[in-house]
Amino acid sequence: MADVVLGIETSCDETSAAVVVATGQRPPEVASLVILSQDVHRVFGGVVPELASRAHLTALPAVVDRAIAEAGIPWSAIDAVAVTQGPGLVGALLVGVVYAKGLAYAADRALIGVHHLEGHLFAPALEDPELAPPFVALLVSGGHTMLLDVPAWGRYHLLGQTRDDAAGEAFDKVASLLGLEYPGGPPIERLARGGDPQRFQFPRPMRDSGFEFSFSGLKTAVLHAVRASSHLEQDRPHLARGFQDAVLDVLVTKLERAVRTTGHSTAVLGGGVACSKALSTLAADRLQGLARVAVASPRLNTDNAAMIARAGWWHLSRGERSDWTLDARADLPFPGLTSSMTRSQAPHP
Ligand code: KG4
Ligand code: ZN
Repeated sequence: MADVVLGIETSCDETSAAVVVATGQRPPEVASLVILSQDVHRVFGGVVPELASRAHLTALPAVVDRAIAEAGIPWSAIDAVAVTQGPGLVGALLVGVVYAKGLAYAADRALIGVHHLEGHLFAPALEDPELAPPFVALLVSGGHTMLLDVPAWGRYHLLGQTRDDAAGEAFDKVASLLGLEYPGGPPIERLARGGDPQRFQFPRPMRDSGFEFSFSGLKTAVLHAVRASSHLEQDRPHLARGFQDAVLDVLVTKLERAVRTTGHSTAVLGGGVACSKALSTLAADRLQGLARVAVASPRLNTDNAAMIARAGWWHLSRGERSDWTLDARADLPFPGLTSSMTRSQAPHP
């Protein structure tokens, strides 16, 4: 039984390592978590893949050593190494995967490759050990926007996803239009607090039916409003507020629809956009009396290795292992994911 799992996450611009420890029959909790956010991308207004790989390469050994030291355990106590296999930037992923393989091989420990989004899904379970399916999950990050029906860990039914930009990507692009720093979610949320919700009413794309999302038209609407503004400095908080309200309204309306459709009494929020206090507050308000909202603290919602170790632990506890051919995959498919399309196409058992 792998009770002590070292996690490694290098899929984008965070170099992270963590140790999670399970005691008795209880699922694991975080013993240490180190996240080094790469500053190098800030001046470029987005992540530069080659720079990300180099920064991971430089930082990862020290980040792993630090996570083990902070957990207060010797190296020998680690039972398994879990690493993000994909999706993400392939060069960045490769640094983590190769390092994890080296560690596990040298120490003769189990190795498990983890899907980054499955990691995000497990994040709230680190602070809430009772959290268990069935639930509805809204995964919102810089690269993905997905609504899932989760009847059991490992079984993920895709209700809908974005047809164009991810929710976090929309925050980042609009932040850039407003002259704010990258990543754009946090500065937009701060600015929006002082914004008047009535000043700019932006469209709510695809809000009133189904589970699919689209954010590119909303981004263009903000672009037009920015161009039309003759007092951009004064309008910025109102533009940020109008944009944020539109995105959150769409996300939460569809989350509520998913809760009503499935009848589940828990709604999980995951991914970097789930750091938004405005999102979790709106979700809790709209779902009051319908479902409880489970969301991890911000440190566990942005990219981090603790969620990877937690998801890895679940796979390991089912006897799964990766072998030494484990390779980074930029387009790794979500394990256990089905959509209505694949379900109806699947042969009857
Ligand atoms: O999950 P994550 O850390 O990385 C990816 O896997 O993409 O998500 C990063 C995304 C960025 O687009 C960032 O702008 C967004 O999460 N984000 C937020 C907030 N904090 C981070 N979006 C809205 N409001 C926030 N407070
Ligand atoms: Zn992520």
